[in-house]
Amino acid sequence: MKTLLFVDDDPNVLQGLQRQLRPMRQEWDMNFAGGGAAALAFMAMHPVDIIISDMMMPGMDGSQLLSEVLKRHPQTVRIILSGHAEREALLRLVGPAHQYLSKPCNADELRLAIVRALALRDLLGNERLKQLATRIKNLPTLPALQGQLTEELRKDSPSTERIGEIIARDIGMTAKILQLVNSAFFGLAQPINNPLDAVIYLGLNTVRSLALSAGIFSQYDQKMCRAFSLDVLARHSWTTGVMARGVAQMQHQELRILEQCFLSGLLHDVGQLILASGLPEEYTEVIVRAGRESLPVWQVEREIFGASHADVGAYLLALWGLPNPIIEAVAKHHEPAQCVAPGFSPAIAVHAGDVFAHEFSAINTEVPPPQLDTVHLAALGLAGRIETWRAGCKELIEA
Ligand SMILES: [Fe+2]
Ligand SMILES: [Fe+2]
Repeated sequence: MKTLLFVDDDPNVLQGLQRQLRPMRQEWDMNFAGGGAAALAFMAMHPVDIIISDMMMPGMDGSQLLSEVLKRHPQTVRIILSGHAEREALLRLVGPAHQYLSKPCNADELRLAIVRALALRDLLGNERLKQLATRIKNLPTLPALQGQLTEELRKDSPSTERIGEIIARDIGMTAKILQLVNSAFFGLAQPINNPLDAVIYLGLNTVRSLALSAGIFSQYDQKMCRAFSLDVLARHSWTTGVMARGVAQMQHQELRILEQCFLSGLLHDVGQLILASGLPEEYTEVIVRAGRESLPVWQVEREIFGASHADVGAYLLALWGLPNPIIEAVAKHHEPAQCVAPGFSPAIAVHAGDVFAHEFSAINTEVPPPQLDTVHLAALGLAGRIETWRAGCKELIEA
């Protein structure tokens, strides 16, 4: 049975939650605390799978509580319930909370968020990797891009397009800004899949506070994992995004799918960044061994960690509440045959874009590049399209 902890200083809210979620009591062990101190005391005695906390509480507020939970119990999923007037407070939560729900929240919405988060917990079998991903507040970003972003934001009249462009070149910044804008807090009817749209929706002031004061974009330390270069990964990821979008365009997909393809391409190897920054020494070993034994990196990861960078990356993005097609494309980019979606999908586009990106600009010549799953593409009736895609992607990179 999964253990849940609800925290709110208003006893009426807690009673309401208890009443609304009553039908779930056979499946969930639900606990209630009247404040931060009581919540931490409970957690010191019982392991908790998910904590759902109010934001505005006297003494310790939701942001402080979740920061403390992150430190003491990094494996617990952290959800905040916050009122709409508290937009400023939201900026303080982009680090410690995985998901933000707006108050008042109906029982179905809350139940769905919890069910999704719990299902995820079982997806990534390896406890250590789960803890590694759950602990992450923000992903390391490229210092050069962060410098460009700061410079643009400090201008008298910064260009929104330029800011969108800078963010779209960085895996960590893109993931973070899409987490925020797609959170239930903003209640968008359709998810946003494009970094520029996210900047427009949030507004320059919010983006400025996020980038300059909230410190959500941390810098990557290149010395940590010697076999891994974030610079190289960022370029590969951007190329993969462009090519995945190109492939989808050649398949005459609608704009929404094109955006999903670029975004999933940009984020497809985010798991490598998580592993390289979280377990630098072991990840160096993985890369060295992949080269020595001529095996794909993701297979060596599965052997050593019990999960691949695709699994870990998808887990983090799901935890952050990114749209489902993106998560699936990231999870299956090496194994598109395992996709549940029938026919062409962003996962197919990213799979092909990744292979072409490796073909046209090799990133590590010692490690074997990924190969197209031609059997699966043939089963989808797409085998005849491969050479057209390849030629089209080549043109894209030469343009
Ligand atoms: Fe990959
Ligand atoms: Fe890749």
